[in-house]
Amino acid sequence: VHVVHVATEPRYEVRIGPGLLADVDRATSEYSRRAVLSDEHVAALYRSKLGLAGDVPSLAVPPGEDSKSFGALERVLDFMAECGLDRRSCLIALGGGVVGDLGGLAAALYMRGIALVSLPTTLLAQVDASVGGKNAINLERGKNLAGTFHQPALVLADTDTLATLSDEEYRSGLGEVVKSALIEGEAALAFLERNADAIVARDRERLAEIVAVCVRTKATIVARDPREHGERKSLNLGHTFAHAIEHAAGYGTIPHGVAVGVGLLLALSLSRELGVSKDATLAERVRDLFLRLGMPASLDALRHSSRAPLTADEIVSGTWLDKKGSAGKPRFVLIEAPGKLALDVEASVAVLGRCLAEG
Ligand SMILES: NC(=O)c1ccc[n+]([C@@H]2O[C@H](COP(=O)([O-])OP(=O)(O)OC[C@H]3O[C@@H](n4cnc5c(N)ncnc54)[C@H](O)[C@@H]3O)[C@@H](O)[C@H]2O)c1
Ligand SMILES: [Zn+2]
Repeated sequence: VHVVHVATEPRYEVRIGPGLLADVDRATSEYSRRAVLSDEHVAALYRSKLGLAGDVPSLAVPPGEDSKSFGALERVLDFMAECGLDRRSCLIALGGGVVGDLGGLAAALYMRGIALVSLPTTLLAQVDASVGGKNAINLERGKNLAGTFHQPALVLADTDTLATLSDEEYRSGLGEVVKSALIEGEAALAFLERNADAIVARDRERLAEIVAVCVRTKATIVARDPREHGERKSLNLGHTFAHAIEHAAGYGTIPHGVAVGVGLLLALSLSRELGVSKDATLAERVRDLFLRLGMPASLDALRHSSRAPLTADEIVSGTWLDKKGSAGKPRFVLIEAPGKLALDVEASVAVLGRCLAEG
């Protein structure tokens, strides 16, 4: 088992490895009461694997992004109250990023904040969503517009659960894995290159190592900048383009991490275009890696696989939607070299157009 310490306030541990669901009972025995939140799909697969002693109530919401809503949040809060949870109780969130976000927000709000024990079951949730304390639900006007920061008390990432993910959900996690490696540095990128076949085969040991590398990368950044005033923005590498792609295709059409993968390639191309990156081979390496991982390795490949037109104009205007709170122009996270990023870089429409034309 890999253990990563996240030095936020409060600090917590992320444990990563096979078979960890069986540890949940022991790991949560200190709490006065426990309740489990999941989605229907994950509950059917894994609720019985938790081996929780005594009568631990469960609620399963419908799977999918629609459960990040006020209606679902109210159901979860009512459920917590019905279970008689108090300030010394914990909510156990078993599922992907949707359950993590919904459960995280409910745990933050219930009695002004109780413990959240997170059991992420998708690759995306294990490498990204379960670490860092962000949670949110969606509003009519946009995704993740209503949320808080609430660090979990403990995260147990059982890598055995990844075996049942659909290929599409699995690939969605891989986009974030490659992002994480580019942020971390050359060693992490080379590790993915060496292990690409094992990743495709979902080799249990390699996967646990890879998830641990990603979690460590995110944990380091989040501990230095818990509220995203500076460095934490680096985690948005590829995301301004990804959000524009998701918006152009219609949200839900293209898995987030797949859009992030192509977003990374576009960020690499913009980095070259603006002279930020001096490394001409990096984009080629990342493209090769995506090909080996069975991911779309260019905007054109994504157009083909998604059957969305994804015109350059749509994507350029889409980058204006993703201003991350700052007024004016979109700002990009660019990359000089693996492990070396440039934050808050602006780009003109003309330059963006050139990058997108290269695909
Ligand atoms: N809070 C954060 O920091 C953060 C970071 C990244 C993403 N997110 C959020 O996470 C969400 C996406 O997360 P996701 O991709 O995990 O989506 P998800 O939670 O919707 O899960 C995807 C699908 O996989 C199913 N599933 C989950 N685990 C499974 C398993 N082990 N085997 C088989 N099927 C399984 C689910 O039932 C669901 O149908 C988005 O809402 C996004 O905004 C949050
Ligand atoms: Zn992402």
